[in-house]
Parts: sequence; C-alpha cells; structure tokens
Amino acid sequence: METVDETLEMMRAEDLRRLAQTVNVPLSTRYVTVTELRGLVREALDSLPRPAQTGRPLSDPAVSVIGLRKRYGATTAVKSLDLTVRPGEIVGLVGPNGAGKTTTLRAIAGIIRPTSGSVMVNGVDMREDSTETKRVLGYIPERPTCYENLRVREYLTFVAKIYGVPRHIAIIRTSRFSRMLQLDEFLDSYIGSLSKGNLQRTLLAGIFVRPPPYVLLLDEPIYGLDPRGAWSLKRHLRHLRDTGSAILLSTHILEVAEGLCDRFVIMHEGDVVGRGTLTELRERFPRARTLEHVFLELTGGIPEE
Ligand SMILES: Nc1ncnc2c1ncn2[C@@H]1O[C@H](COP(=O)(O)OP(=O)(O)OP(=O)(O)O)[C@@H](O)[C@H]1O
Ligand SMILES: [Mg+2]
Repeated sequence: METVDETLEMMRAEDLRRLAQTVNVPLSTRYVTVTELRGLVREALDSLPRPAQTGRPLSDPAVSVIGLRKRYGATTAVKSLDLTVRPGEIVGLVGPNGAGKTTTLRAIAGIIRPTSGSVMVNGVDMREDSTETKRVLGYIPERPTCYENLRVREYLTFVAKIYGVPRHIAIIRTSRFSRMLQLDEFLDSYIGSLSKGNLQRTLLAGIFVRPPPYVLLLDEPIYGLDPRGAWSLKRHLRHLRDTGSAILLSTHILEVAEGLCDRFVIMHEGDVVGRGTLTELRERFPRARTLEHVFLELTGGIPEE
C-alpha cells in the first residue's frame, strides 16, 4: 500500500490541481496546498480496502449457481452448471473456445436469462430485484462496450458520482488506478476511440473507483496489458480478494489462472469436467504437473505430435 507522500509524488500536476480545487485552496499558496492535499490523500488511501476495513461484507457464498442451463436454439451453451464463489476467493473458469464460459458469466451478471436453473448474487436471486445486487457487481465483458461519447475521465467521474464516492476520493482513485492500468495517457480520449484492451481497462478502472467489496466477473481480463500492468492488476485482484471481494474470472491464459486463482472450474462443451485446487486436480491426474496438462487431459487429451 502506498504512503501519502508516494501517492502525492506520483499524481500528475493536473490531478493535484483538481484535488486542490476540491478544498478551494488557491494554487499560488503551494505550501498550504500540500498540507491540505496530504490530508485529502490520507483520507482517500484510508478509504481503499484493507483487511477489516471494507464496506458491508458480501453474503457467503457471494455467487451461487445451481443447475444453470442455457440453450440457444439447437445449441446448448451450458448444460447443467453448479458453481459457488465465496468472499475471499478467486475462482478461475477455464476451458477451450465455445466451452460456455462467457455464457456462464453473462448469466451470473444478469445479462441473459437462463433457460433453467438459479443464479444468486450476494444472496439475491437474479430473477428478482437485481438492482441492489448490481451495486456490488463488477462485470467485464469479453466484447466490452461503453459510452462512446464520453472521455475516459468523464466516465470514471460519472461512475464515482453514481456510487456516491466523494470527489477527492474519486480523483485519487482515478489517478491511482489509471496509472496501475496504464490508462493515464488515455484519460482525455473519447471512449469510442479506444482499443479493446484499453476499453476493458477503462471498465476495470470504473469498477475500482467504486467502493469495495465487489463480486467481480471478469471475462478474459488481462488482455493487452504489458507484463508490468498485468502484474499490478493481479496484485490488486489478490488484494481485493484478501479484503472480502469474490472474483470469478475466465481465461485461456493458463499461466494467469495458475498464478492467480485459488481454485478452478474447468468447462468443456457446456459441462463442468473438472474442479478443485491445482493440488486436487493434480491428484486426479498424477502425470500432470501443470494446469495446462490437467486442462488438456480433461478437454480431449494431450495432442499428438
Ligand atoms: N448469443 C448466442 N447465440 C447463439 N449461440 C451462442 C450465443 N452465445 C454463445 N453461443 C454458443 O454457445 C456456445 C458457448 O459459447 P461461449 O461464448 O459461452 O463460450 P466460451 O467458453 O466463452 O468461448 P471462448 O473461449 O471462445 O470465449 C458456443 O457454441 C457458442 O457458439
Ligand atoms: Mg468467451
């Protein structure tokens, strides 16, 4: 966790000016400004999640899916899926193309209606009132879309406003997470002009400006981040987990899943074909050393040369 001075040092002059404006301190009196700013930065850092200092805890389990089935015409994308995610857990949903991962995440997010089965998020059935539940949901779709005519910073300010985040805290969170997600240089770009990776990251920043804990549903979230950005994001996801968020992420990148997830649900052709921690999965497949081996064994065998 960064200190007040580190945060102040890393914030861009423009963000410091915005912060100063929130306490109506004239920019010419720099000495006073810095003192005032230190107070604001301290308050904002204190508002970031730490163990034993988060908002209202999530229900346990935070996500509960029972007998989920989704049919599209003749295709059954998900056959009968049971899944739970508890607060304090990162669960990896892995499987080959077309396995049903995106369909599962969309059903949990309330974007599509299951053909049958139930989805509970934070203790509420998604078929009933999902408005309150959506306050804790953070969903990053595989094909992200967003308000094209807003600039990135306007979008983040807008989200913070909707969630009642005080302005100075929103400024500091915006500065911190746009840096972490390598978005600084795009803050003044229109969302419509962003690449897919930058758009996903804008949506992630839009979650992180909100107050935690969250139920995060991330569909291939580490797309396009360079190693440094990916490392920072993974560190932040672990931190969110340790402070009571519940995280379900789908990925093809097995190294990402292996290093980040506490346990796995492996899907193949709409079915769950394996689940458990890496150790448990390895016990089932004694020859498998890595998640990649387990994955290949469960989804059609290891390819011949
Ligand atoms: N809206 C839709 N209409 C018709 N079929 C769909 C729709 N969405 C998904 N499917 C089908 O359902 C199956 C599962 O798709 P899904 O996108 O959930 O897989 P996935 O595991 O996310 O794959 P990928 O790794 O390629 O993202 C596929 O056969 C897909 O073609
Ligand atoms: Mg998908």
